[in-house]
Amino acid sequence: MSVPVEDGTGFGLGEQDAARFAGILARYPTRRSALMPTLWLIQDRDGHISDAAVAWTAAQLELSEAKVREVVSFYAMYRDRPQARHVLQVCHNISCHILGAQPLLARLEGKLGVRRGEATPDGEFALEGVECLGACGMGPCLQLGKHLYEHLTPEKADALVDGLRRGDPPRPDTDRDLEA
Ligand code: FES
Repeated sequence: MSVPVEDGTGFGLGEQDAARFAGILARYPTRRSALMPTLWLIQDRDGHISDAAVAWTAAQLELSEAKVREVVSFYAMYRDRPQARHVLQVCHNISCHILGAQPLLARLEGKLGVRRGEATPDGEFALEGVECLGACGMGPCLQLGKHLYEHLTPEKADALVDGLRRGDPPRPDTDRDLEA
């Protein structure tokens, strides 16, 4: 694959992703406004946002690298290093807490044999407790990539992990267009 968007940072996009990037830029009045969807595009392709990707993003969007890093580290959905294949992000903020996030997290910790913040030794699953996912009335909820699972119970969490292991996960309640 050629690398049409290359600027000396050691990072580039292939043709297909360069077209996605151009589509993102076209939706915003200034390049810097496209930061979050650009980061999502990179993570969607690479699984995380590397140092080279940070440098590239800063150069492309006319931002400082410090600003890009600040956004990557602030939002739970972005990752700055490779992680597990399936990253289960369970909201433990107030609404989801009241609706049962703690029993849900406890069940997932038991099922996966890890504590929140850890990954399974085979690299298949990571479990995270995160702040509000913006679906407070549908809690407790869990984000998996672009997928949001709502009104979860410990039993539904078991079924999700079993389905992911089989390669046949239950349908999510919502798919988020994180490039929008
Ligand atoms: S408190 Fe869980 S989504 Fe807002």
